[in-house]
Formats: sequence, C-alpha cells, structure tokens
Amino acid sequence: MAGHWIFVFFLLVSTAKVQSSVFDVTSAAYGGKPNSDITQALANAWRDACASTWPAKVVIPQGTYYTRGAILQGPCKAPIDVQVQGNFKAPLDSKYLTKQDSWVGFQYVDRLTLYGGGTFDGQNNCYKNKYCKTTQAVNLRLDFVTNSMIRDITSLDSKNFHINVLGCRNVTFQYVTITAPEDSINTDGIHIGRSFGITIDHTTIGTGDDCISLGDGSQRIIMTNVTCGPGHGISIGSLGKYQSEDPVAGVLVKNCTLTNTQNGLRIKTWPGSPAFGIATHIHFQDIAMVNVGNPIFIDQQYCPYSQCAQIAPSTVQISSVTFANIKGTSATPIAVQLMCSRKLPCQNVGLEDIDITYSGDKGSLTSQCAYVKPQFTRVANPLACATNPFKS
Ligand SMILES: *[C@@H]1O[C@H](CO)[C@@H](O)[C@H](O)[C@H]1NC(C)=O
Ligand SMILES: *[C@@H]1O[C@H](CO)[C@@H](O)[C@H](O)[C@H]1NC(C)=O
Ligand SMILES: *[C@@H]1O[C@H](CO)[C@@H](O)[C@H](O)[C@H]1NC(C)=O
Repeated sequence: MAGHWIFVFFLLVSTAKVQSSVFDVTSAAYGGKPNSDITQALANAWRDACASTWPAKVVIPQGTYYTRGAILQGPCKAPIDVQVQGNFKAPLDSKYLTKQDSWVGFQYVDRLTLYGGGTFDGQNNCYKNKYCKTTQAVNLRLDFVTNSMIRDITSLDSKNFHINVLGCRNVTFQYVTITAPEDSINTDGIHIGRSFGITIDHTTIGTGDDCISLGDGSQRIIMTNVTCGPGHGISIGSLGKYQSEDPVAGVLVKNCTLTNTQNGLRIKTWPGSPAFGIATHIHFQDIAMVNVGNPIFIDQQYCPYSQCAQIAPSTVQISSVTFANIKGTSATPIAVQLMCSRKLPCQNVGLEDIDITYSGDKGSLTSQCAYVKPQFTRVANPLACATNPFKS
C-alpha cells in the first residue's frame, strides 16, 4: 500500500515538472499579448526555460507579435525547444532595433530545437523605397549553437542576410522557407562560416542575393533537396579576402534545383589574397538548372564593383571538386567557366554527365577554362573547356 502511494507521489511530482517545463510567452507569468511588443516577455520566458534543469519549451503561440530584438543566450541547463507558431515581426524602421546587426539570435545553446511553422518577418521594405538605408540586421543568427535542429519555420524579408551560422557544430535545417524579393540587396538565404557538420535539407530559398553561401571554415556541409530562386545561386566563398582564413573542406550539394538564379554553382575567390587559403572536397551532384546564369562557375578573379586595384592571382588553392549529373538550361551562352588561379591552378577537378542547353540569342553554347585540366566524363564538346581566354 505504502509503495502504491509513493508511486502516485512520484507521478504527481513528475507531472508537475513536465508542466512547468513549458514557458508560454502569453501566460500570466510573462504577459505577452498578440499584436504587441513581446520583447520583455520573451526574454523572461527564455531566462526561465534556460535555467530549467528539465527539458524546457518556450512557446510563442499563433498570432502576430512584435519584437525589437531577441538575443537568446545559453548555455542552458537542459535541451531547449522554441516553438514559434506565430508571426514575429521586426520594427519597420531599424532604428528601433535593440541591436543593429541582428534581430533574433541564439548564442551558446546546445540541443536547441526551433520549430513550429511560424514566421520571422524582418519587414525590410527597402526595395520599395530607394531612400531607405539598408542595415546589417540579420533575421536569425546562430552563434556557437551545437547539436541543434531548425525545422519548419519561415524567414521573410530580412533587412540583411536571413540566417547567419557562425561557430556552430552539428546543426540541421529542415523544411525551412526563406523569401525576399529579387531586388532586395544582401538578403542571402543562409550564410555559414567557421562551422562544422551543418545540414540543410528540404529547404526553399528565394532572395535577392546568394541562396546559400559558405564562408571560410565551413566544413562537412551537406545540402540536399534545396530549391533556390530567384537569387544569386549556391556559392562557396567569397574566399581569400582576409588574413588567416580557415579552409573550406567537405561540401556536398545533392539533388537541388536552381531556377532563374544569376549564377548556379559557384566557387569564388578574390584576386591578390593576403594569405594562402584552401577550398577542397566540394561535390555538386544531381542538380537541375532552369534558366540559370553561369551554371557552373569557378571564379578566382571575383572582384565585384571593380574594388581591386590590380589583378594579382588568387592564393586560394581549389582542389578535388566534382560536378556530376548537372542538367538543364543556361541563361548565358558560357555555361561552364573554370577560371582558376595562375599562381595555384585548380587540382583534381572533374565534370561528369553535364547536359546544359542554351536557347538565348547572345551566342552559342560554350565554355571557358584557365589554369585547370579537368577530367571529363560524358560532357559534350561545347561544355568541355572549349576556349581558354589566356591562350591565343
Ligand atoms: C547532432 O545533433 C542531434 C540533435 O539535432 C543529435 O541527436 C545527435 O546526436 C548529434 N550528433 C552528434 C554526433 O553529436
Ligand atoms: C529528396 O526528397 C525526396 C522526397 O522527399 C526523397 O525521396 C529523396 O531521398 C531526397 N533526396 C536527397 C538527396 O535528399
Ligand atoms: C529530389 O528532390 C525533389 C524535391 O524535393 C524530390 O521531389 C525528388 O524525389 C528528389 N529526387 C531524388 C532522386 O532524390
């Protein structure tokens, strides 16, 4: 009998714990109300959830909520879920943001799950207003987040990059949607830097800049079933602009589709890099292209807006790069460009099963290569280094 009562007692205690591990920003304890600013309510709910020794969950229920900024810091005492069902909105005018370079951010959190079908709306309206100044505010920043999952959320109209991943390890993005107008500048979808083991799967990105871009120190990065467009395509780099950059090593881009993007699959490095750099083991496979400019592009003379005084060769060594089963249509006649560094020619580049057509009127389908001797397997003539602009 006594044993029975002890069992009931434990049951009650554990039920209480499970209930107390939900931290709803609209509960009486936090007082968040729909259609209002919940900056403080969210900060308080996060503080309590993060201090919980049991797995905790912060809930932002359905409805529209505003926040001037939320930097949610760990380390937390246990795994933590953030369930965003509602529509989160940033201030229209960035002067009301609590931090100029980020809107919502997670820092030093382990075992975070961010999910719930909700939207992070950066309310960038600069593309409609040519006098408005763009800001640095990233919709969602993950800094030093580990063993985490970001699933089933939408990032809309960020004022700058949509999602920035820095110093993270083992983080998966799945069923994420990122949307911004084609003419909104600097609105990269997901930018990753100095991170290890990042997977992006079943994600749809249409913005005014790179779909996904990888900065230095991106290692073991996997992108599968990603759909890009409009925007500037999938980009490794730009690399080689700064001193002491870490290598990019181990990138797999598989079963992705690009539609109406300015570029397709690109590796870009700056000329005249201040130090030696590395980009290696980069594989693009099973990619569909629909009206994509520069579908396959290694550009070691990347220098937008003619910022470079002189064109010294890049000192980033690109090696072990494959493009396999890349099919579809190009928006530019030069469909394959492999323009490597004259100081450090690309090593071990392979193209296999490339079938790209061009139906525009700006010339006929062709390719150009310099400082690279690729291995071709089932690549038709015009796509297999048809010209070398540095040889006469
Ligand atoms: C990676 O993170 C997931 C949680 O998203 C976890 O289940 C898994 O064990 C982690 N893997 C490693 C190798 O730590
Ligand atoms: C892409 O998604 C489809 C359907 O959801 C799935 O069958 C397939 O395995 C995925 N491919 C990759 C490479 O992830
Ligand atoms: C590739 O991804 C698309 C879109 O998710 C899916 O429909 C298709 O089944 C996938 N195919 C393979 C071979 O993985």
